[in-house]
Amino acid sequence: MLLTSVVFADDLGQREKAAKQVSQQFVKQLGGHLKKEMKANGPVAAIKVCKDIAPEIANKLSLENGWRVTRVTTKTRNPMLGTPDQWERETLAKFAARAEKGESYSTMKQAEVVDEAGKSYYRFMKPMPVKPVCLNCHGSDEQIPGTVKAELDKQYPFDQATGYKLGDLRGAISIKQPMDIPLRKKF
Ligand code: HEC
Repeated sequence: MLLTSVVFADDLGQREKAAKQVSQQFVKQLGGHLKKEMKANGPVAAIKVCKDIAPEIANKLSLENGWRVTRVTTKTRNPMLGTPDQWERETLAKFAARAEKGESYSTMKQAEVVDEAGKSYYRFMKPMPVKPVCLNCHGSDEQIPGTVKAELDKQYPFDQATGYKLGDLRGAISIKQPMDIPLRKKF
């Protein structure tokens, strides 16, 4: 019995390390593309980075690892990809409550094994706070350039993802791993 629990704990430690690393990769890769496009062609052109490249990176990381890697939020721009499930909704609320008590989003994370419909999943979430660059497309009406606003209105008529302030919780990276799928790589 003892041995099993030791192995299990070890596996969870490995899973957390893996999830952390993959969420960092996501942020780094997306941030790199966004910065480059913003600098070269401005925020209107950069919309496609968030629209096309962000899901592409998430897909690639998902397939590479045999998990699901997504971005979720309480106020979606793209409800098809960004709508949280119950655990994700509760975790987003917990992150916001922890921030109210003074904790920084940059060091927060939530990791748990959750049973759903008879199957166990390792679940991990990391907050995505609003940084200065995000305000170009998720800030107030005054902060979003008119040309960006027009393009967002055209592409996302049901956009809810504006009006954020610096440091707000924009959303989170969410990783879901079936516990019966072993880690594919050494992390
Ligand atoms: C150039 C415009 C632009 C910038 C800058 C930008 N975003 Fe977005 N963001 C978008 C678009 C467009 C979508 C919708 C993507 C889609 O269609 O899936 C989006 C979607 C998201 C989502 C997915 C949930 C949802 O709302 O549908 C998150 C989370 C997010 N952005 C966070 C950020 C953060 C954090 C930053 C700053 C580091 C940022 N964004 C900067 C345009 C932008």
